[in-house]
Amino acid sequence: MILDGKGLSERRLALLKEEIGEKGITPTLATVLVGDDPASALYVRMKHRACEQVGIQSVNVQLPSETTTQEVLDRLKMLNADPDIDGILVQLPLPAQIDTHQVINAIVPEKDVDGYHPVNMGRLVGGLPGPRSCTPKGVMTILKEYGIQITGAHAVVIGRSVDVGRPMALLLMLADATVTICHSKTKNLPSITRQADILISAAGRADMVTADMVKPGATVIDVGTNHVNGKLRGDVDFEAVKAIAGAITPVPGGVGPMTIASLMENTMEAAIRRCNPAQ
Ligand code: GUN
Repeated sequence: MILDGKGLSERRLALLKEEIGEKGITPTLATVLVGDDPASALYVRMKHRACEQVGIQSVNVQLPSETTTQEVLDRLKMLNADPDIDGILVQLPLPAQIDTHQVINAIVPEKDVDGYHPVNMGRLVGGLPGPRSCTPKGVMTILKEYGIQITGAHAVVIGRSVDVGRPMALLLMLADATVTICHSKTKNLPSITRQADILISAAGRADMVTADMVKPGATVIDVGTNHVNGKLRGDVDFEAVKAIAGAITPVPGGVGPMTIASLMENTMEAAIRRCNPAQ
């Protein structure tokens, strides 16, 4: 079975558009893009396009490559204080001279639609409600929508990044999976991945998950976005692995569109909280 993230994201966005119409609110997302990295600029444009599609207002704050940490913090202060802005997303990675931790910490947690702020990470660890990182949230939506059994499953996550691997493992654990996290220092990776009922690769290396690493019938989720010879490639050798897996996400058209759908949902949830501060 091919897990069609593109189709699912279109359905989620259509539902969100309906909900926005029914509730009669206009959520607003502010993105902050520093520098002129073409991939980052493309991602930000895609996010604005999705906003337009569902009826979320969006503004982009474009800052030059040589912007300092303090200048980003000053802009965030204004966005934090602006009652018309529900969600703030600073596109990562930031240029090397900027302190990413300081920047993430400077977004008020209520407007942190990426779920990266330590308060929101803490809520995730504590199993409390709060915005969840968009990519792991999108993966959970795929698993749930396709009826993949998570309770009691052995889920193996390759990658321990703060934005994907770690929150992914926590969300799976909160959903009652037995979770193993693998990373670049893991010994004998294939012997571990072969035990996975659900294998999630967020390693960032094209074609590193080969057929011999996958248990027959497993669900394989490919979070990789690797640019190889001008083409987007996942972490998984899709053609070989799809013959063995029970279910698999393609790249493109798998997790990527779900990340954007999750961002739209997080922005809507932030807007609802603004309208009903008690929630
Ligand atoms: N860069 C790549 N993916 C993301 C994301 O989901 N959020 C942010 N802020 N930056 C990113």
